[in-house]
Amino acid sequence: MSRKFAPVVLVVAATIVLVAILIGLPAAGAQEMGATVQLGGNAELGPFLVDAQGMTLYIFANDTPGVSNCSGDCLANWPPLLVAEGQQPTLAAGISGRLGVIQRPDDGTLQVVFNGMPLYYWVNDAQPGDATGHNVREVWFVAKPADVSLGGNDELGPFLVGPNGLTLYLFTKDAPGMSNCSGDCLAKWPPLLVAEGQQPTLQPGLAGTVGTIEREDGTYQVTFDDMPLYYWVNDAQPGDATGQNVGEAWFVIQPPTVSVGGNEELGSFLVGPDGMTLYLFTKDAPGVSNCYDDCAVRWPPLLVPSGQQPTAGEGVTGSLGVTERQDGTFQVTYNDMPLYYWVRDVVPGDATGQNVGEVWFVVAPDSMGADSMGAGSMTSALDGNELVSQRCTVCHTRERIDNASKDRAGWEATVDRMIGKGAQLSVEERAAVIEYLSSR
Ligand code: HEC
Repeated sequence: MSRKFAPVVLVVAATIVLVAILIGLPAAGAQEMGATVQLGGNAELGPFLVDAQGMTLYIFANDTPGVSNCSGDCLANWPPLLVAEGQQPTLAAGISGRLGVIQRPDDGTLQVVFNGMPLYYWVNDAQPGDATGHNVREVWFVAKPADVSLGGNDELGPFLVGPNGLTLYLFTKDAPGMSNCSGDCLAKWPPLLVAEGQQPTLQPGLAGTVGTIEREDGTYQVTFDDMPLYYWVNDAQPGDATGQNVGEAWFVIQPPTVSVGGNEELGSFLVGPDGMTLYLFTKDAPGVSNCYDDCAVRWPPLLVPSGQQPTAGEGVTGSLGVTERQDGTFQVTYNDMPLYYWVRDVVPGDATGQNVGEVWFVVAPDSMGADSMGAGSMTSALDGNELVSQRCTVCHTRERIDNASKDRAGWEATVDRMIGKGAQLSVEERAAVIEYLSSR
């Protein structure tokens, strides 16, 4: 079953191989030496992240995702967690969240980031368990997994997990903001709790909001999109989801396979279940991936478990499907184009793969699917306007086309150039598109 990776596993794997890719080494062997980032903790602060030797790791509140704002004297007190070129950072099994690497602008070293936040040591910690840097100047804190992160397994794909990596469930007999599970029910379905006054955290990039409700016993239960969250007493380790569908009332929480994200530079584009940017490859053919081996390491395909259909978030109007890859896994397609992640993207909103090799592009969500074209669309299959909306918005927005003014020869040249880049048009469709564009 291991050939059916959940997408989230791939993303973690992708970040693990990042450094190897940068300098071209095979990604193997790090696990035996102990994961770069592990779970430690102490009685006072509970569980937090530590390095392979058990030394406490910190985050700096003045950093922003993917960017370290600590340099000079600051760095002398807070040495960064680095990986050598050729070494891949790895996350111990059971910690949920995304690991990556940023290159420091000051000296070019490679600093490990967790959920986008750069990781540091504190110079005054002497031994494992020390966390004397916690709350220094109220900007340094031990690094912790989010209260709600993306985990998953090979059968169900990605779903939400708690800070201990165990699967979270919602109860369909609850109402928004209200738990209807108490007594015996609670013994089987322990609530995910946070301390009073503590705001629960969500892995960045996950669509949804976390909050709390106060239970009758005065504890605070975490909610996701207002629904209370629970563990299931029979789940023993990360990946277990034995509570799924129990009593037809308990379910894991699965984000849509494909949603709309974006950034300021490129506007809206498609993102995967973890909020990371998705790309298409203009050397693919409709429904066929031509990205294997090294290519697929650099551009991990967005996968769904065998037999599952991908799900669409709000604003995803194109049609989602799957194509079987040579290794028997199932890759998600959008308007027939296979979708990929890019290993160098570190935080949600990164789109550093855009235009790589002039063949990789983010995917505009506003392509119209067959169902959204409205009545009559079937009888006007060669409506140039509709074709432009469907086929030309795969790589960029419709505005880009509407803002260009050209004569017929200009449009012929442009459309042919776009076909060269991968626009999918038959001879008749090409003619209909050119006719429409040059007679507007
Ligand atoms: C496979 C990706 C892809 C598809 C599909 C695509 N384009 Fe493009 N388009 C690009 C890229 C990349 C650029 C920027 C580079 C360039 O202009 O060659 C671009 C730029 C443009 C521009 C601005 C540059 C110019 O020449 O004015 C227009 C207009 C345009 N495309 C029209 C279209 C039309 C019409 C279609 C549908 C027939 C289409 N595109 C389909 C990738 C694509």
